[in-house]
Amino acid sequence: MHPDGERILFTGEQIQARVAGLGAEISSDYKDKELLVIGILKGAIIFLSDLVRSITVPLYYDFMAVSSYGSSTESSGVVRILKDLNQSIENCHVLIVEDIVDTGLTLNYLVENLKSRGPASLKVCTLLDKPSRRKVPVKIDYNGFTVPDEFLVGYGLDYNGRYRNFPYIMVLSRRVYEGGN
Ligand code: PRP
Repeated sequence: MHPDGERILFTGEQIQARVAGLGAEISSDYKDKELLVIGILKGAIIFLSDLVRSITVPLYYDFMAVSSYGSSTESSGVVRILKDLNQSIENCHVLIVEDIVDTGLTLNYLVENLKSRGPASLKVCTLLDKPSRRKVPVKIDYNGFTVPDEFLVGYGLDYNGRYRNFPYIMVLSRRVYEGGN
């Protein structure tokens, strides 16, 4: 494990096994349908790239980037679209893919926004769910792992942009984000 980590929460093998399970479940639920998978930049791309390779129904994928609301406006849940989809989602079976659902503010905004565009269906898949931090209720259709309220990095999750490329997920040591490093 990287020295900035306190402990490994999920090994690469555990993640790959769970992602394969999610892919099988999604493939079965969308049998005879075509999927539009929407990844939310940047955290979700590692998960998305493994997940789509475990899905056997025909699919397209596209990406959105949204601004995080920032600590001062966190409770308002104001989210800004930095990069929108390249295509219409009208009459498409849409699956939003996230790396983590924390307060739920980002996902809540995205679901409402995408719903208004007239998809045939809209579901949510997240690798990690941290329900202890929730501020607004969100419906998650596919969840990889429920996690405790700890600072997690790796497999797409970052601290100041770092650690996203790790194949495992680790708990970041307090000394890294509480200064000292
Ligand atoms: C993370 C994550 C979700 C969001 C979840 O993104 O990818 O989009 O935060 O938090 P919430 O449930 O409290 O809204 P972040 O803003 O860190 O951007 P990134 O994916 O580019 O790292």
